Amino acid sequence: MWVREKMKIIPGMSSQLMAVRIASELDCNVSLCEFKKFPDGESYTRVLDDIKDEEVTIVQSIITDSDLICLLQLIDAVEEAHEKTVVIPYLGYARQDKKFKPGEAISARAVARCLCLDTIKRIYVVNVHNNAILQYFDKDTKDLDASLSIGDYIAKKEITRPVIIGPDAGAKELAKAVATPHGFDYDVLEKRRISGEEVEITPRALSVEGKNVIIVDDIISTGGTIAEAATMLKAQGAADIQVTCIHGLFVQNATLRMFKAGVKEIIATDTIESAFSSISIAKMVAEELKR
Ligand code: R5P
Repeated sequence: MWVREKMKIIPGMSSQLMAVRIASELDCNVSLCEFKKFPDGESYTRVLDDIKDEEVTIVQSIITDSDLICLLQLIDAVEEAHEKTVVIPYLGYARQDKKFKPGEAISARAVARCLCLDTIKRIYVVNVHNNAILQYFDKDTKDLDASLSIGDYIAKKEITRPVIIGPDAGAKELAKAVATPHGFDYDVLEKRRISGEEVEITPRALSVEGKNVIIVDDIISTGGTIAEAATMLKAQGAADIQVTCIHGLFVQNATLRMFKAGVKEIIATDTIESAFSSISIAKMVAEELKR
């Protein structure tokens, strides 16, 4: 039976809201932590709570290099805890999942190796970019799937004639997972090179003419992929274009690029906290932690 008082949630610097939401779902305590930088730029992390012999769950997304350091520091800081679980809502570095050029680091493996610590019981990640990288973790590591939450959110909006579109072949499984439970049509875009300078992007099977399109991707970073896809879909007669993603990094001028390309709304989960994090995955994570 799930005993709430047993667990303490330890919030990392990048996932404070997520940690509080998970704690609220589980009705358990969230520990206060202190984060600061030394004058030379090094990070300092302290857990301001007695965690000795407690069951703790650290929640920390890896968005920046400092976030990775913070996670490693938190794992070390809770050394005296009885049992340690780590939740990484957004696992950065996952896109460098192989050597594209000789001599490159497989960054996903390098990060996984840092986290292969005997003291950790279990690691949870969420829609990791390529779940083949889970092989690099020697821990019991589970990839949680937020596609249901996205599908449910879209369904509640009661959009007329929605079509779920993945911007590339890599997004096909996600588009399918979002669409299928609700019976929405789905497709992915296909890029066809017309000449050295010209590419044509079209849906592979469906026409989007007059339809409300929801583009889904796992990550939005610069917004370039979505802006290109939205421009093409508009040219093909799509009605409203909305965009959803699991992990919204929204770097540089991503937001502007997407809206300029005709996107009407941007919806992300809260694996990375932003103004667009309308879908919370806290409940899904909490359910897993109860198991
Ligand atoms: C790539 O494989 C990912 O699934 C995303 O499509 C990509 O990371 C998006 O990046 P950006 O927003 O910079 O185009």
